[in-house]
Amino acid sequence: MTKTYGADPNWWRQACVYQIYPRSFADANGDGIGDLQGITEKVPYLQQLGVDAVWLSPFYPSALKDGGYDVADYRDVDPKIGTLADFDAMMTAFKAAGIKVIVDIVPNHSSDDHVWFQEALRSPKGSPARDRYIFRDGLGPNKDQPPSDWVCIFGGSAWEPVGDGQWYLHLFDTSQPDFNWRHPEVRADFLTTLRFWADRGVSGFRVDVAHGLAKDMSEPLKSQEEMHTLFLETIENGARPNIHPLWDRDEVHEIYREWRKVFDEYDPPLTAVAEAWVASDRKHIYASPEGLGQSFSFDMLMCNFRRDEFRDTIEASLKDASGSGSSTTWVFSNHDVVRHATRYGLPKAVEKGGSHGNFASFCKDYLVSRGKDPVCDVELGLRRARAATLMMLALPGSAYLYQGEELGLPEVADIADQDRQDPTFFRNNGEEMGRDGCRVPIPWTKTGKNFGFGGGKTAHIPMPEWMGEFAVEAEDPDAASTLNLYRRALGLRRELQADETLEWVNDEPEVLHFKRNGGWEVAMNFDGPEYELPKGEVLVASGKLVGGKVPKNTAVWLKSA
Ligand code: NOJ
Repeated sequence: MTKTYGADPNWWRQACVYQIYPRSFADANGDGIGDLQGITEKVPYLQQLGVDAVWLSPFYPSALKDGGYDVADYRDVDPKIGTLADFDAMMTAFKAAGIKVIVDIVPNHSSDDHVWFQEALRSPKGSPARDRYIFRDGLGPNKDQPPSDWVCIFGGSAWEPVGDGQWYLHLFDTSQPDFNWRHPEVRADFLTTLRFWADRGVSGFRVDVAHGLAKDMSEPLKSQEEMHTLFLETIENGARPNIHPLWDRDEVHEIYREWRKVFDEYDPPLTAVAEAWVASDRKHIYASPEGLGQSFSFDMLMCNFRRDEFRDTIEASLKDASGSGSSTTWVFSNHDVVRHATRYGLPKAVEKGGSHGNFASFCKDYLVSRGKDPVCDVELGLRRARAATLMMLALPGSAYLYQGEELGLPEVADIADQDRQDPTFFRNNGEEMGRDGCRVPIPWTKTGKNFGFGGGKTAHIPMPEWMGEFAVEAEDPDAASTLNLYRRALGLRRELQADETLEWVNDEPEVLHFKRNGGWEVAMNFDGPEYELPKGEVLVASGKLVGGKVPKNTAVWLKSA
């Protein structure tokens, strides 16, 4: 059994995990792209912030057709951002700071630059090399029609021809061919990859597209319309599990049971969190102790800024997680969604209310119009984001933060077309703006080249003028800044966290008020009259209180009297 870092096997259950998108965090060598040395230099910042772990989005060799989620080599560092020696130095710094490291693993697809895919391209139809991916003959006499009308997630056909009558499946970009997980070499190679990073000191993995690896490709392939109906039935409303040929198939858990055996070779065991967009009553299977152990819940992220939606979601998420004995995850922002300080500044989203779809499409409207219509109320968005985060950090379970949210950073909506990188932008002829707006590098200094992200070339996505006011340098000395709110909350969270129970205190229409064991109380006023607090010491508040009462769009932590 190999000793990993730390002693507590349950460290992840209520950890605060900070997501680093390496290419946009800190650029030590000044080439415009964030790098591992940049991360190492910022370890003291993360230690002061008070996070328990970091999750690194992919840092592997990649042509960056999908922000690094197109991996060319799973066991190396992209030379654009460092070397394995830099990785080891970074691990040493994190370990000295008492921060664990989780890395992203991308098993559904590789990059088309991966040696196996290149070998597949050079090899004939029916060869073992092609069998590591999903190749099919095209339709029609010349085989020049795709094997099915499937549409990929980023838009356009899910099949790409290779010139000899065969096509390969890519559920994402054409540069991301899907692996065939029935192939023993694919399975074995990922076990090697897991051990490779664990032996270099990582404590766990975030598993990309965890619900997509097992596919039923038996012929005849279903049509896109049939697939869509099955999607609605199985993923959206969970009525008929295990019927979709691509998503959330039961066989996928055989893979994770094998991974679990590898996780358990380490002491404490490695952890994993599934990115699985599945019906809520299926999440617990991914999060089971025989499987990955934890599964992201994005339900609160999808909520409108409404008390009832939040409350229902909190209850459901806690219940879902307890179904597997796992703990809940809370997320408001990540590299795939509009930052929550902006989402909550789009008031029409609240008017539209109700369905998650509306909220998502409203964010889309905002991006398509590059932030001009609808206009984001930046101040309101930030006030709400601070309140929501403060409340979330008091919930039982683990909290996932995304770099820059601790600064209250809004989305960058207005990015010039030539600076966009997200394949969704290109595959939809610019109608989908994509996710670049939350991937702009973060500001460290108030002024200067790239606001201290890196002093050399212009940042790989240029940083707008207004970013300086959100810089670490601007917020650090300001006691009321979002950065200091996060620092204080994370410090207190460590002190106050006890068991994973929560008790609701009242049923006010616009207020969430709950207690945690150990006399920790939390009240958040969404849109109600000023809310009177019970007796007790106010530990931290997301905004100013009015005569000791909590105004709307504000949350408070209290030590009960
Ligand atoms: C989910 C990742 O979070 C996203 O950024 C990526 O584009 C897809 N998976 C494909 O890997």
